[in-house]
Amino acid sequence: MTRVALDGPDRIIHADNLEVLPSLPDGAFTLVYLDPPFNTGRSQARRSTRHVRVDETDASAGASGTGGGTGSTGTGAGTITGFAGKRYERIRGDLLRYDDRFDDYWAFLEPRLLHAWRLLADDGTLYLHLDYREAHYAKVLLDALFGRECFLNEIIWAYDYGAKAKRRWPTKHDTVLVYVKDPDRYWFDSSAVDREPYMAPGLVTPEKAELGKLPTDVWWHTIVSPTGREKTGYPTQKPVGILRRMVQASTREGDWVLDFFAGSGTTGAVAATLGRRFVLVDENAEAIEVMRRRFAEISGVEFVAAE
Ligand SMILES: C[S@@+](CC[C@H](N)C(=O)[O-])C[C@H]1O[C@@H](n2cnc3c(N)ncnc32)[C@H](O)[C@@H]1O
Repeated sequence: MTRVALDGPDRIIHADNLEVLPSLPDGAFTLVYLDPPFNTGRSQARRSTRHVRVDETDASAGASGTGGGTGSTGTGAGTITGFAGKRYERIRGDLLRYDDRFDDYWAFLEPRLLHAWRLLADDGTLYLHLDYREAHYAKVLLDALFGRECFLNEIIWAYDYGAKAKRRWPTKHDTVLVYVKDPDRYWFDSSAVDREPYMAPGLVTPEKAELGKLPTDVWWHTIVSPTGREKTGYPTQKPVGILRRMVQASTREGDWVLDFFAGSGTTGAVAATLGRRFVLVDENAEAIEVMRRRFAEISGVEFVAAE
């Protein structure tokens, strides 16, 4: 497949992401946001190739656990060499033996995450949006894969909608793990982020109350309302307000953003509004249709089908 030049139009690609990722150039994206399907299960895992291999030479390069930015990532056909080395292999082995259901999920995700790391610019940031059932396993593996010092935040997106369990605390949050490519170089501008109301505005000066406060790592935000203007009809659509914060903080105008589990295209919609460039990938024809409608008013977006 020919390389995608990142000086062209914004792109929406209809393809299995693992097919298209090798064609995207190294270090091209300042932000990669991923919202993979939860519980991908055996059917998805079987379709993907389990091809992460760490050979002894690379293993010794990354054995200190310094991870991102220090090891090497080769992405030749059929073989990906992990950049975090032997330590990652050991942790991965232990964890995946412990829970073979997660093993299937990670088999699907891992080769895609290796590409995400390769595609991130030196000042780039990965936002990995996870379910509470997967988040803790993924955190341990990502610490070993990216390097623990590249872990920036665990964002909790809390919402309050739908049925409430009676036999346990109702689970009303998602987890977003945030990793940077290089802890000394990543871009983060909190002053660019929408502020939110103080919980107790009476405790701060009227000026501060008027300005609002910086969001923390816990984001209270309603889900996409089934009757609201934002709704596209795509079942797993994420709110613009959630994506906007990530894009505002972790990119500058003109930077490229990648979402290769694009769904309804929320990441691209936010990027376009904020003057960022984007590449979106989804394998589902319904997602592509939803994005065609969503981006109909935005000029210069190219729809590409996998060869
Ligand atoms: C949770 S949804 C993403 C929702 C999206 N964040 C939004 O706001 O609409 C996950 C998406 O990943 C897509 N997907 C799953 N496996 C894929 C693959 N191998 N390649 C490309 N897309 C895939 C699904 O079709 C689905 O649209």
